[in-house]
Amino acid sequence: MAIPADASLDKTREILRARLKGIIPDFEIDYKAELAWKINRLKHERGAVILGHNYMEPALFYSIPDYVGDSLELARKAAETNCDPIVFCGVRFMAETAKILNPDKTVLLPSKEAGCSLAAAITADDVRRLKELFPGAPVVSYVNTYADVKAESDYCCTSSNAARLVKSIDADLIIFLPDEYLAKNVAAETGRKIWIFGPEDLESESIVYPDDVSMIGWAGRCEVHEQFTVEDVTSVRKQFPKVEVLAHPECRPEVVEAADFSQSTSRMIQHVKESTAPHFLLLTECSMGDNIIAENPDKDILRLCSVRCPHMNQITLEDTLEALEKNQVEIDVPEPIRTRAKQALERMLSVS
Ligand code: 13P
Ligand code: SF4
Repeated sequence: MAIPADASLDKTREILRARLKGIIPDFEIDYKAELAWKINRLKHERGAVILGHNYMEPALFYSIPDYVGDSLELARKAAETNCDPIVFCGVRFMAETAKILNPDKTVLLPSKEAGCSLAAAITADDVRRLKELFPGAPVVSYVNTYADVKAESDYCCTSSNAARLVKSIDADLIIFLPDEYLAKNVAAETGRKIWIFGPEDLESESIVYPDDVSMIGWAGRCEVHEQFTVEDVTSVRKQFPKVEVLAHPECRPEVVEAADFSQSTSRMIQHVKESTAPHFLLLTECSMGDNIIAENPDKDILRLCSVRCPHMNQITLEDTLEALEKNQVEIDVPEPIRTRAKQALERMLSVS
């Protein structure tokens, strides 16, 4: 995706204009092209690699990342790269994943505000308490968790391999953290009966739940995807009867049920490219729709743009330039936590 490092400023502007005309205003393209040109030169000088999540805003997405993708694809790229530093245009848990896999390299996250409501929903203490309550049950943690939570986990997963990973585990009871809705969607796909725990349950003396439960979930939610409703889907279907609805698996189970397709961000992008439907409704971060239109101008993408990820939106071209200039914000994962978290990540990478 990156514009070549040897492209002149004029060439950078021309490439970005060709890609983004009509998606963002010309003056903004010109301003951002200059930032992208500076970043690409500095990236080359420093021998850096830039990884960009699918939610990055279009001018950044189409100008500076050497690789773009979903969480799993970017974790793979982080595991394979020889470049140093690694600049992660995504959120903190993604940059931490890159650091866990590359302890000797510098990993930079352009904004220290780029968190995630799911990663913030659970602590390592919560996981330890759950392990005491359900001894022997393997712990699967969504990659949207911080390193200390991964360190308490047996496996990591992403939205693109969660069901496959759960199917590969031979255990009567699995603890699946921290996204309540992803867990419910995975339970439905893998035929497991789920019971959701929250922080208040860990305080209680005795916990009662049905005998036939085979998956324990946690009450964490993505603040973006939890906002989509079945009514959103029905009202769009009324206006556009032939619309194809794509919902990220972090959406509520009833929303996923009402949709036509539910997979990771990269699989959603791929699906839109391959489908001949006349319209698509994307129930995910709004920027991704712009990125798809920029590459597929013939596609009619409908989005609910009032719902944005405040964390992904922290990552800007300005901050990325500053990150490379000042070597900030450097991600650090303490060694004992890193080695344990790495095992869970490596299990994920080997299952996929
Ligand atoms: P993907 O792994 O599907 O890209 O999802 C990451 C994420 O944070 C979605 O909100
Ligand atoms: Fe986290 Fe949701 Fe933002 Fe993804 S969209 S980074 S899950 S808050």
